[in-house]
Amino acid sequence: MTAARITVCLAGATGWAGSELARAIARSGDLVLVAGVSRTHAGRDLGDVLGDPQIKCPVYKSAAEALADWCDVFVEYTKPDTAKANVLAALERGAHVVVGTSGLTEQDYAEIDAAARQRGRGVLAVGNFALTMVLMQKFAEIAASMIPQWEIIDYAHDDKIDAPSGTVRELATRLSRVRPPEPAVPIEQTVGEREARGASLLGTHVHSIRLPGFVISAEVIFGMPDQRLSIRHDSGNSARPYVDGALIAIRRVSTLVGVHRGLDSVLDL
Ligand SMILES: NC(=O)c1ccc[n+]([C@@H]2O[C@H](COP(=O)([O-])OP(=O)(O)OC[C@H]3O[C@@H](n4cnc5c(N)ncnc54)[C@H](OP(=O)(O)O)[C@@H]3O)[C@@H](O)[C@H]2O)c1
Repeated sequence: MTAARITVCLAGATGWAGSELARAIARSGDLVLVAGVSRTHAGRDLGDVLGDPQIKCPVYKSAAEALADWCDVFVEYTKPDTAKANVLAALERGAHVVVGTSGLTEQDYAEIDAAARQRGRGVLAVGNFALTMVLMQKFAEIAASMIPQWEIIDYAHDDKIDAPSGTVRELATRLSRVRPPEPAVPIEQTVGEREARGASLLGTHVHSIRLPGFVISAEVIFGMPDQRLSIRHDSGNSARPYVDGALIAIRRVSTLVGVHRGLDSVLDL
């Protein structure tokens, strides 16, 4: 007997990240895309929109319409202003939810967690699905448990307007949960331009560089007397790095109840 395939509704199916994920789901064998969401392409077949004959599913203009048919897992990959309403609508319909969209607040997640627990459904929210970034976070957490001083450098292209990046914010938050860093000179005791020491994110000094020639990179440097450890992550230009982690999240989210943050929630690291 073959196992039932997991049905997926993908909000943001025509976007930079969502379209790459749609192609991978169509080739997966154990997942089936039953609906996509995009305002611009509503009413069309997603395979025609993406020029991919392996994809066959209707596109709806809103998550509410797409959710009229049953899906096991709803994937949110649109924009922060619609993400929360989409996630709550999916939980209301009884789906488990994977959130790739960035920008939801702690308050949003508290509300989503309450709704998910009430219905016994899982929500897996992952700020960066790239497996190499998940590993970087894990390696950095191990290092922070043994080394009390570190700083982060956040590199990006010159037209990125937000700083630090969401990925670096998440990294700083994770490290602060391991322990607060112990700088020899606290930032407020700096003599000269305090800004030169970077922003303080939960105690971690973060330095954002925005220059042409960079895509997105993050480097955390741990320092001890007469020794130094750098852990660095570099992303390319395509959305390919985010696919494998998103597929894992879709396959495993039904093992969870309530909101869980980070792909490591479903990995045995
Ligand atoms: N977690 C991760 O690893 C990861 C990786 C990459 C990106 N992201 C995040 O994922 C989100 C999407 O990024 P992206 O670069 O793929 O964006 P994008 O290329 O602009 O795609 C957005 C998608 O959402 C749809 N959409 C937007 N607003 C909508 C609305 N109100 N109703 C229905 N559909 C709507 C768009 O279609 P229409 O405009 O036709 O409606 C499009 O399909 C962002 O928050 C980004 O930061 C996360």
